[in-house]
Amino acid sequence: MRTMFSADQIATRIAELGPQIRQSMGPVPITAIVVLKGSVIFASDLVRCIQGDVRLEFLGVSSYEGTESTGHVRITHDLKRSIAGKHCLVVEDIVDTGLTLHYLLAQLRARDPATLKVVSLLDKPSRRTVDVQADFVGFTIEDEFVIGYGLDLDERYRNLPEVAIYEPQIDGA
Ligand code: IMP
Repeated sequence: MRTMFSADQIATRIAELGPQIRQSMGPVPITAIVVLKGSVIFASDLVRCIQGDVRLEFLGVSSYEGTESTGHVRITHDLKRSIAGKHCLVVEDIVDTGLTLHYLLAQLRARDPATLKVVSLLDKPSRRTVDVQADFVGFTIEDEFVIGYGLDLDERYRNLPEVAIYEPQIDGA
């Protein structure tokens, strides 16, 4: 595997994103909706860079098998509290085809949040099949399958401290 963004590069970018999000959303309590499982590591670093009142909720979705989207998005773990009237920030690991985010936003909008913003660590705009965009993006990347810093290949590599390009011939998997 080849490093795309080192742990230091990620930390530097997140230290910029946190204040940018706070400035944009204003001095309101923010409900960070952490999309399981890929966003957990990003979210844990990000929320510590957002000052003021930030609460955590978790939402589990599943759409991928191996390196391909199945196209079917399922909620595997729903929010435990109402988000009606709340200022919500969906925390995503990556927006690829956009199918997952598109589905999630439709589900969440129907629950009447006061605000619904999205931050994604990574964005692969060249792969988009539906018109959806995160409000805040860490890094825009080319069409490469990436692993690490929460991102997995069949549940492996989430624990890498960096984001790396997956190269099957080198990995031997
Ligand atoms: P989308 O529905 O195609 O936008 O895919 C969104 C989800 O697919 C992300 O939240 C990831 O869990 C997964 N995904 C997409 N691209 C990658 C990748 O390059 N590496 C690991 N997971 C990915």
